Amino acid sequence: MSIKTKSTDLRRRMRDALQGGGTQAIEKQKATGKLTARERIIALLDPKSFHEYDLFVEHAGKDFDMDKKYLPGDGVVTGTGTINGYPVCIYAQDFTVAGGSLGFMHAKKITKIMDHAMKLKVPIIGINDSGGARIQEGVNSLAGYGDIFYRNTQASGVIPQISVILGPCAGGAVYSPALTDFVFVVDKISKMFITGPEVIKTVLGEEISMEELGGARVHAEITGNAHFFAESEQECFDQIKQLVSFIPWNNIKKADTFPKKNPKTRKYKIEEIIPSDPKTPYDVRDVIRAIVDDSEFFEIQELYAANIVIGFARLEGQTVGFVANQPMVLAGVLDVDSSDKAARFIRYCNAFNIPLCTLVDLPGYLPGIEQEHAGVIRHGAKVLYAYSEATVPKITLIMRKAYGGGYIAMCSHHLKADFVFAWPTAEIAVMGPEGAANIIFRKEINSAENPEEMRRQKIKEYKKKFANPYVAAAYGYIDAVIEPAETRIFLAHVLEISNNKTESPPHKKHGIPPF
Ligand code: HXC
Repeated sequence: MSIKTKSTDLRRRMRDALQGGGTQAIEKQKATGKLTARERIIALLDPKSFHEYDLFVEHAGKDFDMDKKYLPGDGVVTGTGTINGYPVCIYAQDFTVAGGSLGFMHAKKITKIMDHAMKLKVPIIGINDSGGARIQEGVNSLAGYGDIFYRNTQASGVIPQISVILGPCAGGAVYSPALTDFVFVVDKISKMFITGPEVIKTVLGEEISMEELGGARVHAEITGNAHFFAESEQECFDQIKQLVSFIPWNNIKKADTFPKKNPKTRKYKIEEIIPSDPKTPYDVRDVIRAIVDDSEFFEIQELYAANIVIGFARLEGQTVGFVANQPMVLAGVLDVDSSDKAARFIRYCNAFNIPLCTLVDLPGYLPGIEQEHAGVIRHGAKVLYAYSEATVPKITLIMRKAYGGGYIAMCSHHLKADFVFAWPTAEIAVMGPEGAANIIFRKEINSAENPEEMRRQKIKEYKKKFANPYVAAAYGYIDAVIEPAETRIFLAHVLEISNNKTESPPHKKHGIPPF
């Protein structure tokens, strides 16, 4: 055969493989508002950067007449490309081929591209759209998942792992995304659950739709399994591109620096954001926007545990991970969910060399039977652990309340923050003035002629003594009391001088965090 004939043969083979599940299956896919696997990859990566591998891989199923079936690419597309010029490894399950179900060779393709990502030290992106373990391939499908989970775990903290749920992701399949760093979901398209509505009805007699059980909103708002929620696939791809611009390719590098930009100070006036009444809430995201470059804050898990805010921004061009109490929601308390949310993010930033900036305004951990029984002790401890363990530059700003355990947990000097600043509005105490006065002055209040008047007086006395940053500053627990308008200058300065920070934690295989 001549080269020309062989090339023609190659093109024919490629054409056959690239047709995926065929016209009918593709039409069905489109009718549900979904792109095909290759269209998704092309929409996400830089134009013309995608290079596909293992196009001619064939499935290994023998039973149930599978040996007579042709499954192009075995239902998954894998390759490499770039996003904003950064290299990435990627795979996308092709639902048009056997429902994107995961058989032995399908899994081999995924683990091969994951191994490449680890060797090349670049992010791995997985687009999930699958009916789960390929039933006809039995234990080999389960083995495939196990091989993926193992690699997810090995890659954790080494390269960024991004999961995009663009279709069903059922059964054990959900555990690969759950092991990765960032999970993206799209409204009405993403569905994640361990057991679907049918099984739930059979076993428990409960009826629920797929959307209500494990739709995008459920995971973005209730379970916290998803980190980013989008209205469309295109919006989701734009979010991924934005995320990738903030994070380094791997745990050896630092995130790229960008040209410095001033915040939009006309829109976000830092002195006017915090109300003078300490009980009036405000949106802490406006404080972040008033400080950071171009007032651009890329929020993560915006819809989940909104009493804490996490996300990336840049200060003088450098990526910073922000953790901030949100006084607008539950007064910014730490509870089970917000502790989990913050702790995981702190560990991400630490693993990937991203400095942490913590903004504090909280009355403490949330009291109550429900929280105690839900394990607020264990979950709350995750924040202490994550901050104490982190060796990246840690900068803290106390804006208003820093009471009790909340003061310690929100990256105080005692957990080895590098720099702690406070505004003059800061109140650092074991608890709020009302609660404290009621306890320590109980006798005086009860025996007073006018107990109410005495209570007011004692609260005032307590406030004067403790509701300020100066007692903590006198012990050196605050490095500088600064005016709000000086915040950006101070943060940018300490960030710059912390660039070469090194810290050597004690040698250990790994710690035992309160998972
Ligand atoms: C083999 C599968 C499949 C599977 C779907 N297909 N799931 N083939 N194994 N797991 C095939 C269908 O037979 C069909 O083939 C094609 O994919 C499209 O599926 P439809 O059902 O027609 O699509 P749709 O109506 O959109 O429904 C999608 C679905 C449904 C909700 C995902 O297919 C479904 O419920 N599938 C089973 C989900 C599941 O329970 N999976 C196993 C989970 S257990 P044809 O040839 O007709 O086009 C698991 C264990 C892993 O994953 C444990 C790891 C630790």
